[in-house]
Amino acid sequence: MCAAESPSTVLVTGGAGFIGSHACVELLDHGYQVIVVDDYSNSCPRVLPRVERIAGRFFGAVYELDIRDRRALSAVFDRHPVDAVVHFAAHKAVGESTRMPVTYYDTNVGGTTALLHTMHEHGVRDLVFSSSCSVYGDAGEGPLDESTPHRPTNPYAASKSLCERVLADVCAHDPRWRVLCLRYFNPAGAHPSGLLGEDPHGTPDNLFPYVAQVAVGRRRRLRVLGGDWPTPDGTAIRDYLHVMDTVEAHRIALDHLADSRGLSVFNLGRGQGSSVLDVVAAFEEASGVSVPYEITGRREGDVAALVADAGAVARAWGWRPSRDLPAMCRDAWRFQQLNPDGYRGSPRRPGTKD
Ligand code: NAD
Ligand code: WQD
Repeated sequence: MCAAESPSTVLVTGGAGFIGSHACVELLDHGYQVIVVDDYSNSCPRVLPRVERIAGRFFGAVYELDIRDRRALSAVFDRHPVDAVVHFAAHKAVGESTRMPVTYYDTNVGGTTALLHTMHEHGVRDLVFSSSCSVYGDAGEGPLDESTPHRPTNPYAASKSLCERVLADVCAHDPRWRVLCLRYFNPAGAHPSGLLGEDPHGTPDNLFPYVAQVAVGRRRRLRVLGGDWPTPDGTAIRDYLHVMDTVEAHRIALDHLADSRGLSVFNLGRGQGSSVLDVVAAFEEASGVSVPYEITGRREGDVAALVADAGAVARAWGWRPSRDLPAMCRDAWRFQQLNPDGYRGSPRRPGTKD
């Protein structure tokens, strides 16, 4: 159960998405009343009954809405005694952001300011915000701590950096706000039940769901985006973090909101780098299936290596991730095998969205 001073009703934006759906399980499991808003632009409502099935509890309410629609969002705050917000809703594909920068600023920055306005109007000023290691950009050899300057290399990363700037100003000028900004490195894996996982619309932009879809036979081969990076095997290095560890950190963040003041920023990572070829090898090992790949050119906006110094969050809250790369691969593979065509391919039970 949540600690006595923890918020009890939490609004989760983007609660049907990859991280959001896992976070909902974690929050329901810990006694929170959870309200979800999502426009399903990169998710499927069928995930939500699965969340309830795993948790053995129901959502307080679920709303299909675009967070930029302040009137619709305000109606949610009118109806529910929201104590705190966990804000996941955003567009997150780096490559797409270089083709659609305005859409990314509009949803990610405009969506966040619409949410902040609405929260303020309803006297809700406790927020956990999803930021990204991509704000650090091409910062060179890691591990990177939170003081690393922002050098975003693509519109997605710049939109997250701008959101952080907005949050810093809001907190600096109104001491009633309490905001925990979590900069995730690369969340991956799936719920161990195999019922929840990463199921993006269209062709996956991220490595893990792409590898999983190749392994299950939905795609022919992985394109490894660059074999000439300045890394030991020439492929880019990232700090992959199990989604279950990621969402556990959000629940712990909610527990700590009450003792926080203003804006605090924490990296969420394992502090261990894996190259693209390391991920391919680990996935093959976990699945027993070969993952064919070809090495192609680099993706615009990519960087050689991003690895976290996650010492600050460990010192502040004692949070340390406990699941390794093989566990991420096993869980991602279980989800992909049980749901080869994702949520939309699952049989629909009559009278339900599942
Ligand atoms: P996701 O796309 O699976 O989830 C985002 C959810 O937000 C989706 O359900 C989508 O439909 C919803 N959404 C998007 N725009 C919306 C809008 N205007 N109104 C309402 N709902 C909207 O992504 P995710 O991987 O779960 O990421 C969650 C958050 O974490 C995002 O803010 C993302 O930028 C951030 N993040 C993700 C990663 C990662 O690797 N997955 C890393 C760092 C940060
Ligand atoms: C990982 C590595 C690719 C796809 C971005 C954001 C980060 C977070 C995760 C949201 C890179 C390579 C990928 C493919 C590949 N997202 N790759 N073939 O780019 O590190 O991070 O998404 O916030 O904040 O910056 O993640 O999973 O897209 O890529 O070779 O088909 O895999 O080049 O080196 P990335 P990713």
